[in-house]
Amino acid sequence: MVSNKSDKKNLGKGTKAVHSGTAPSENSLNTPVYQTSTFYLDDNAYKMWMNGEPRAPVYSGRYFNPTNRAVERKIADLECAEDALVFSSGMAAICTSLLNFLSQGDRIVTTRNLYGGTVLSLDQDFTRFGIDVHYVDVKDLGAVENALKEKKTNVLYCETVTNPLLEVSDLPALASLAKKYGAVSIVDSTFATPISCNPIEHGFDLVIHSVTKMLNGHSDILGGTVAGSKELINQIWYKLRNFGGSMDPHQASLVERGLKTLQIRYERSTESAGQLAEWLESHPKIKKVIYPGLKSHEDYDLSKKILLGSGNMVSFVVDGGDDAGRNLMNKMKVASQAISLGGVESLISMPYSTTHASWTQEDRLAAGIDLGFIRFSTGLEDFDDLKDDFDHALSSL
Ligand SMILES: Cc1ncc(COP(=O)(O)O)c(C=O)c1O
Repeated sequence: MVSNKSDKKNLGKGTKAVHSGTAPSENSLNTPVYQTSTFYLDDNAYKMWMNGEPRAPVYSGRYFNPTNRAVERKIADLECAEDALVFSSGMAAICTSLLNFLSQGDRIVTTRNLYGGTVLSLDQDFTRFGIDVHYVDVKDLGAVENALKEKKTNVLYCETVTNPLLEVSDLPALASLAKKYGAVSIVDSTFATPISCNPIEHGFDLVIHSVTKMLNGHSDILGGTVAGSKELINQIWYKLRNFGGSMDPHQASLVERGLKTLQIRYERSTESAGQLAEWLESHPKIKKVIYPGLKSHEDYDLSKKILLGSGNMVSFVVDGGDDAGRNLMNKMKVASQAISLGGVESLISMPYSTTHASWTQEDRLAAGIDLGFIRFSTGLEDFDDLKDDFDHALSSL
């Protein structure tokens, strides 16, 4: 079985996605769903539990479940990390991981250019806990260094490719700044996926994903993960146990199945996204296209250094503002209007009414989310059908 080979580092990502972690039982090919809330307390489990060891196999999810473990091993291998944990959602992974390192009076340096839900929690909850949430533009490395220098910082946090502006973060530079000033570096790499980028290889301490998106890939469950060194993951395990945002084994089984096709789904949707971005860029009704694989993208050179693929997400601004944007979305027949991304089906949404609905128009414009800004998650449909869908919808504006 490939999962038991010691030199997994040399295996390709497609092979890891299929084989890593998969834990057959009773001659089954696949990992069974351990649909149980508790386990027999054998001597080993009892000893681990009494010693307070992480992952004591005594109680499901919050402690240990073999189906969840299969997913954790697969993600750890795909991220070139020592270990990983899975959670009930991306937000559970983010909040549980951050709160392992942040207490009252501590400081996190981050950017507002993040998934809107993360900013909401930082502003509403982390500040309420007395945590100093300090925003800088992480594209401005001088500003990041000043922020880290001016006050002891516990965590530096950013996204590899930001939601929804698709800016690419300079991970090697940010990781070395965090190390220099003694902060734990944590990155949400949901948009990049481990197929395109391994932040730990760029020096980051921890990498988080909303598994809800492309890792699971079928728009049928929520999930989250954090990967990193065994030491840090063990620390976070205690917070997962205490806060309780654990993944259900049935959910884990679906994630494991989804992960097996991650590489091929990523490649196919990225290919279509690149073609679509080029086509949209030349369309007279489109004011601007944002896609890291386009030469016009301000991070094009950086993306070539950090990403293996430019991803399935394309953002663009349609002429005519938010009303034109809504009209366009209403006319689409192949792509569906819905929140979320990274599924087999193409999804289209406008951040002003979805991920960034709680932001004022002023804040959105200041952040670069123009009127008529649309985010498109490219699925696995045929490119010609997606292009025709856009062509038809744009021509009716
Ligand atoms: C980049 C990013 N991180 C985290 C999350 C939160 O994940 P979840 O919805 O699984 O809690 C999202 C959700 O859209 C996201 O886009």
